[in-house]
Amino acid sequence: MYPWQSPKQAAKDIWFILHARRASRALARFDQAPASQLALALREFARFSADAPEREWLWRCERFRQELCGSEEKVRMRNFGKEAETGQLHFDEYTLGELCRVGAKPYVWNFLLFRLIRSFRPLRCLEIGTSIGVSTSFQSAALTLNGAGTIETLEGSEDLSRAADRHLSSLGISCARGYIGEFQVTLPEVLRVMGTIDYAFIDGHLEPTATLRYFEMIKPYLSDNALYVCSWIRWSEGMHSAWNKIIADPCVVCYADVYKYGVVVLNKK
Ligand SMILES: C[S@@+](CC[C@H](N)C(=O)[O-])C[C@H]1O[C@@H](n2cnc3c(N)ncnc32)[C@H](O)[C@@H]1O
Repeated sequence: MYPWQSPKQAAKDIWFILHARRASRALARFDQAPASQLALALREFARFSADAPEREWLWRCERFRQELCGSEEKVRMRNFGKEAETGQLHFDEYTLGELCRVGAKPYVWNFLLFRLIRSFRPLRCLEIGTSIGVSTSFQSAALTLNGAGTIETLEGSEDLSRAADRHLSSLGISCARGYIGEFQVTLPEVLRVMGTIDYAFIDGHLEPTATLRYFEMIKPYLSDNALYVCSWIRWSEGMHSAWNKIIADPCVVCYADVYKYGVVVLNKK
């Protein structure tokens, strides 16, 4: 299914789909079963493939995302950039609609996460960057359809994390659990609680040093053939070079550069 939004969004989505097709073909150079599995998931994504129960969940999450885009409810969001400069807590006020339109992933980005989770069937999932729970809802929908699996999701702004909890429970999602606090503080504790990670989606703190630090922190917890998805790998030159360092890691089995996302399959050391 593809929810029509606007010609501009459709043009961006076509660009993304073309990259997914190209990444799927490029995976042929890795002579490994997980590479074929990832290539198939990308092809299914590029065909907008979804069966009836999947379409029902996808519509439910997408309708909700679109409703949220119009919400006027106000929330306070921590400004971590300003806090680093001033050394003091700093909050900005936004409506949920603004956060949804600007910060949350559009449908197609979420659909790719959904297809990856449906294909690889991870049990223990981690998301860094909940915001108001839009991407969490699509990933949780895939876990719910899989019939097993949970997602632990980290967010630094209390108002946003609480809004996400509310949104997820109104969608009937029970496999997601939110943690409030700076990633630097919550991540080590959540990793200890989780023990093993089959899937991680990194979508916050788009800073190269932090990106590599989180990768090094998460790596010892990854299971064999774990999926690691990095968002915004072309956000800046520094983010792209962080992505290049990640794919050069000896634990990497194969990877796909989907332009906006980098998807890696890793093995335990
Ligand atoms: C791009 S948004 C996540 C969007 C969400 N994954 C979605 O698509 O629906 C990134 C989130 O990370 C949070 N964040 C950024 N840096 C953080 C940090 N150092 N610690 C905790 N949260 C942080 C922000 O508050 C923001 O809500």
